[in-house]
Amino acid sequence: MPKILAIETSCDETAATVAEYGSRYFQVLENVVSSQIKIHIATNGVVPEVAARAHLQKISPVVKQAIKKSGVSLKDIDVIAVTYGPGLAPSLLVGSEFAKGLGLAAGKQVLPVNHMLGHLYSALVKNPKLPLPNINLIVSGGHTYLVYLAAGKKGLPGKYKVIGSTVDDAAGEAFDKVAKMIGLPYPGGPSVAKAAVRGKHDYLFPRPMLNEKNYDFSFSGLKTAVLYKIAGEKLDISNAQTRADIAMSFENAAVDVLVKKTIRAAREYKAKSISISGGVAANQKLRTELAKAAGKLGLPLAIPDFKLCTDNAAMIANAAAIMLRQGIKPVSPEKIKINPAADL
Ligand code: KG4
Ligand code: ZN
Repeated sequence: MPKILAIETSCDETAATVAEYGSRYFQVLENVVSSQIKIHIATNGVVPEVAARAHLQKISPVVKQAIKKSGVSLKDIDVIAVTYGPGLAPSLLVGSEFAKGLGLAAGKQVLPVNHMLGHLYSALVKNPKLPLPNINLIVSGGHTYLVYLAAGKKGLPGKYKVIGSTVDDAAGEAFDKVAKMIGLPYPGGPSVAKAAVRGKHDYLFPRPMLNEKNYDFSFSGLKTAVLYKIAGEKLDISNAQTRADIAMSFENAAVDVLVKKTIRAAREYKAKSISISGGVAANQKLRTELAKAAGKLGLPLAIPDFKLCTDNAAMIANAAAIMLRQGIKPVSPEKIKINPAADL
């Protein structure tokens, strides 16, 4: 079976995966993720140069560990896959230069993979036979996309088309900013979700762009509404119950828009399945509400395991396997270039 070594360093996780694949088969042999959360708590967010320095320290041990634990030797790796973008330039450079160096030293070709494509296809890892066409909601810290994924040849995913995106902040970014507003620790998404569970009073925040006849989102307006509510009503955010109420109200509004627009897209595009991916897909409220709504529509919903929602290299290996099956060729290592602003 051909084997892939995948490397991902686009933001604040240093990750490497060894996987094997066939024409209809994909298996993760080892998946290592070294998180920088502890480092970024001090600055309440990611400082790109700090993230890059941490990647530099971790990249070699993380790749070595993935190879060692997989039981595969480097000489048996067929292709090195690496994230080329989008992401933070200093972070992307560490992974891509490492892949380049390793490729040159070991005589391997390298396949550049788009980080968002990694998220998009991550829903297929557990559900390789998901009926297509599919509507995938990608909700990460930097991007929010609604994607139509067509059926391709031989049961493979075919062409994809971004049918909607955010006009301002990404969904994860909004979670992160609201967390900061009410003094919850980094990373904001999980903190808001945790606080929201204890929420009792819903402030009924606006649902921006919910009724507009497109698939775009706006989370900046929602974030501002939270800010005005706190200032206007002099809400006491030192009170844990108030924080929980704000977190729950924000989460309800964000999830409501994400679910309704995804469902509308699935209906209008006559999708045969729905999926979600990206860090915010780890959100329990979103998972539960989307499962209910997809169930009502009679459509299967694919959600990656929690570990594959936030950044990891298994999703890059999986995307690489799909690309290779589609006939996309790896390139010689020196051709690898990062693109921090890469589109899907
Ligand atoms: O996909 P990801 O790991 O990185 C990017 O590609 O950006 O997504 C990170 C984002 C962050 O904004 C984080 O706060 C959010 O995902 N996130 C969550 C949850 N877990 C992570 N947001 C809401 N609820 C969660 N449980
Ligand atoms: Zn990501």
